[in-house]
Amino acid sequence: MLLKDKLIETKNKIDSLDAEIIFQHVLKIDKAKIYSDIKKEINKKDLSSIDLMVEERLKGKPLAYLIGKKGFWKNNFIVTPDVLVPRPETEALVEVILNENLQGKTLLELGTGSGVISISIAQENRDCFIFATDISIRSILVAKQNAAKFCCENIIFLNHDWNNEWLFPRVDYLISNPPYVDKEATTGEEEGIWYEPEKALFSKDKGLSDLKLILSKGKNFLNENGKVYLEHAPNQYEELNKFALKNGYLNFSNLNDLNGDKRVSIYQC
Ligand SMILES: C[S@@+](CC[C@H](N)C(=O)[O-])C[C@H]1O[C@@H](n2cnc3c(N)ncnc32)[C@H](O)[C@@H]1O
Repeated sequence: MLLKDKLIETKNKIDSLDAEIIFQHVLKIDKAKIYSDIKKEINKKDLSSIDLMVEERLKGKPLAYLIGKKGFWKNNFIVTPDVLVPRPETEALVEVILNENLQGKTLLELGTGSGVISISIAQENRDCFIFATDISIRSILVAKQNAAKFCCENIIFLNHDWNNEWLFPRVDYLISNPPYVDKEATTGEEEGIWYEPEKALFSKDKGLSDLKLILSKGKNFLNENGKVYLEHAPNQYEELNKFALKNGYLNFSNLNDLNGDKRVSIYQC
């Protein structure tokens, strides 16, 4: 079968961009080469790999899990079904923290997943030091692979459950994109999330339970002038602000992501 005919067939089944990415992945060529090779034959093995991936995509499996990587900030990160697929909204959190002077500073990231937040920060600030934790040992393994890929030696990855005792030193910045989806409010129609680790997505108390726990425990682990940076859902910031003020924080600010939604909040004692 000609590449051209297979590409047309695939684009009729799934999103055009997804089809091109699957072709690039299976045929191990870049986008320009797909179109310069458009009149070439595709071998049977590649045809069946494409069919298999299209089938999975049609069932809703995230493209990142099919091709094993996802672009985030300035890199392509390794992604497996053991980690959340990094979201573009999370780049807002990275952008805000990178506005700080991180020279010689210590950071703690809770729930690092594939490591995208810590690695994006560490790469641009080789002399800050980061502790990055996750309850999932499998995600720590993926994060470590990513850190090695991008030569980040200033991160220590720790397998830790934030419900247990915190044995960390005080830090200048505590960062987290914890699970914050309210499972009760999901409809079942959400694309892709049913393939992702439950622990990476859902939190009790309308999605606020982990955010609140991190705020209340985190306060005792901040150096003077330290700050907590949190990603959350757009409808959660007011409740979080109230909770923070009741729990000893004095200042907060709520920032928008690229869609104009309140997605990142900063809390300071
Ligand atoms: C929303 S994901 C964020 C992953 C990554 N930081 C990102 O932004 O793509 C939340 C992460 O928190 C971790 N997590 C969930 N509950 C946890 C707990 N009790 N202690 C530590 N990590 C936890 C999950 O395994 C998951 O990797």
